[in-house]
Amino acid sequence: MIVTTKDLFRHAYGNYAVGAYNINNLEQTVGLFRGNLGKSASNDGPVDPKTSAPFIIQISRGARSYTDKRFLEALIRTAEQVFPEAIFAVHLDHGTEEACYDCIDSGFYSSVMIDASHHPLDENIAVTRRVVDRAHAKGIVVEAELGQLGGVEEDVVGSVCLTDPDQAVEFVERSGCDSLAVAIGTSHGAYKFSGSQGLHLDVLEKIQALLPKQFPLVMHGSSSVPKQWVDRINAAGGKLANASGVDEKQYLPAAKLGVCKVNIDTDGRLVWCAIHREHFRDKPEDFDLRGPGKEFMPAYAEYIIHKNRMLGSAGQLEGARKSLAAKSR
Ligand code: G3H
Ligand code: 13P
Ligand code: ZN
Repeated sequence: MIVTTKDLFRHAYGNYAVGAYNINNLEQTVGLFRGNLGKSASNDGPVDPKTSAPFIIQISRGARSYTDKRFLEALIRTAEQVFPEAIFAVHLDHGTEEACYDCIDSGFYSSVMIDASHHPLDENIAVTRRVVDRAHAKGIVVEAELGQLGGVEEDVVGSVCLTDPDQAVEFVERSGCDSLAVAIGTSHGAYKFSGSQGLHLDVLEKIQALLPKQFPLVMHGSSSVPKQWVDRINAAGGKLANASGVDEKQYLPAAKLGVCKVNIDTDGRLVWCAIHREHFRDKPEDFDLRGPGKEFMPAYAEYIIHKNRMLGSAGQLEGARKSLAAKSR
């Protein structure tokens, strides 16, 4: 069942964060749905109440243009039929104003992110307000961003600029956005920290204290870049030197401070890369794409189960379902 992120955040706020996972292809989609229902080995079998989780599927502009955006929509629609117990939002990741309008008009997405964070404050607010007005008219919710992450966001090269808590209050009030992505020290990709830096939970605490009660916050660039996957990639011929990510133990403290959505893309790519490198290293005579695909889907599903445990969303599917039912009564 496709719901809005707002519906998911109402249940999660202050207790756990919903995993927001990027997809690009079939195998990722299948692994993602299986993992969020607590079944790794196949599409069938019972949903595991201890590990099943509500989740967010994110589609970037890069993913939309990789083949044709309609393929992703068809994949998700089919997954909704194959996995009828799933509860999830479909979200545009890092949208431009144009991409947001395209998704709003498509009638498929339940939420969009307008990323105008590279503009000065007034312009960021003006662009976000336009998107919010058009989205809300169709019952679609909007994530916006204030502050800039380090690293590279698609074609925007950001320099680290943490979110100013006072500006966050003004931004939320004037833009009308439904959730806010804040910059608190993370960056996109596999090279987040050069030393022992971590999240600026102090900044997050200030933002939460100043914003309206229960206003949902979002953390981008939140992959943990697990050492065991990086090591497996490097052992199979990869060259990922000094990769590092967010400490997974910081997800729950961040959730307690209002973070309801945690964005994960890089980790999924690492799992994909390790499985495929190892497969062809160990079976050099093989050339069938289904071989590594069959290994990747359960491995990715297991990884999602692990990640949801760290986010606190594992085991929350039925609670989220009840909260949705109570809302519609
Ligand atoms: O924040 C960026 C996401 O990881 C999407 O990456 O633009 O390569 O699909 P992508
Ligand atoms: P990672 O690169 O840390 O996975 O971040 C993903 C993200 O923020 C997508 O918007
Ligand atoms: Zn992002």
